[in-house]
Amino acid sequence: MKVSKNQLEVKELCVSFRNRKGTVSILDKVDFSIEKGETLCIVGESGCGKSLTSLAIMGLLPKNGEVSTGEVLFEEENLVNKSMKEMSRIRGNDMSMIFQEPMTSLNPVHTIGKQVAETVRIHEKAGKKQSVDRAIEMLKLVGIPSPETRIHDYPHQLSGGMRQRVMIAMALACNPKLLIADEPTTALDVTIQAQILELMNDLKSKLNMSIMMITHDLGVVSEMADKVLVMYAGKVVEYSNVKDLFENPKHPYTRGLIEAIPKLDEEKENLSIIKGTVPSPENMPVGCRFADRCPFASEICREESPELSGESNHQVGCWMYTDRWSEKEENGNVSRKEGAATGEAARS
Ligand SMILES: Nc1ncnc2c1ncn2[C@@H]1O[C@H](COP(=O)(O)OP(=O)(O)OP(=O)(O)O)[C@@H](O)[C@H]1O
Ligand code: SF4
Ligand SMILES: [Mg+2]
Repeated sequence: MKVSKNQLEVKELCVSFRNRKGTVSILDKVDFSIEKGETLCIVGESGCGKSLTSLAIMGLLPKNGEVSTGEVLFEEENLVNKSMKEMSRIRGNDMSMIFQEPMTSLNPVHTIGKQVAETVRIHEKAGKKQSVDRAIEMLKLVGIPSPETRIHDYPHQLSGGMRQRVMIAMALACNPKLLIADEPTTALDVTIQAQILELMNDLKSKLNMSIMMITHDLGVVSEMADKVLVMYAGKVVEYSNVKDLFENPKHPYTRGLIEAIPKLDEEKENLSIIKGTVPSPENMPVGCRFADRCPFASEICREESPELSGESNHQVGCWMYTDRWSEKEENGNVSRKEGAATGEAARS
């Protein structure tokens, strides 16, 4: 039997929420895969659905949310509709998650040694002494100095960077095949951030795990990613290997994100910003969700939503890269905003 090289495959995942007025769709046909030993970074503005994607994969959506359609295949097994008990076993053994703010995930009344050892004890069904030894080993692996003494510390006695290392140790205690990290370094200063990222890269190659990393920071993407998923308002707009994404970004939103990265020789006020705001889930446009902010928007963009197309290693969800755009251009039907470049220019 052929064994898939994918650790995770997310297929047309749709997530919706129930509120007083009815059901609101948030994620629309999110599609991607992560190979064994690969790092995928998810980027996009606040509220675009990055955290919900990871919570849906982990089976941790809030009570009023649900996967309406789609599949989450973990080693080819669909996790959607698994019972809470089964998901809890999978989270314990095969997947772990690191959240943004370690203080909210660590228990302030227990020592870090007790918390890491407890995670080991549950997942490995190890005895007390064995769990403490393994906790010390894990804390050493993530670079906590003198772990034999630090295990007696409480979370508030550690710096932010050290606490994040403890969170990583806990997440790795079960030897996960997939580590999901939601903005793991956003709250940390730049030097500590660099150390933590280096540590994650190092552990990835040592333990051969796959990583799904959520970040606002394209600098982090260039350090960590093999592949990148760019999301906008609950949809994937570009999906590419990291090199192509930076060298040849296609979607106008991705281009805007990359152009907004400060360059050393650029004055801060000259930074290009993507004007406008993300549409709210209750008022999602029928066509392209980026149309109100896009300088290339034409009729077709407002009428129909573009789906991802292109080569498997670089896909984009934008009408400009489809035959229908060229047909419209030939017929002179493309009515763009004043000053916008042509589709051809945008593709160059
Ligand atoms: N419990 C909930 N009930 C209703 N809507 C929700 C709920 N949780 C999240 N949402 C909505 O889902 C959308 C996506 O949220 P999500 O937390 O995934 O964004 P994000 O990309 O992680 O943003 P950030 O970068 O700020 O963390 C947002 O519009 C948010 O308002
Ligand atoms: S050109 Fe059209 S489809 Fe492409 S991003 Fe702009 S509005 Fe969306
Ligand atoms: Mg989030």
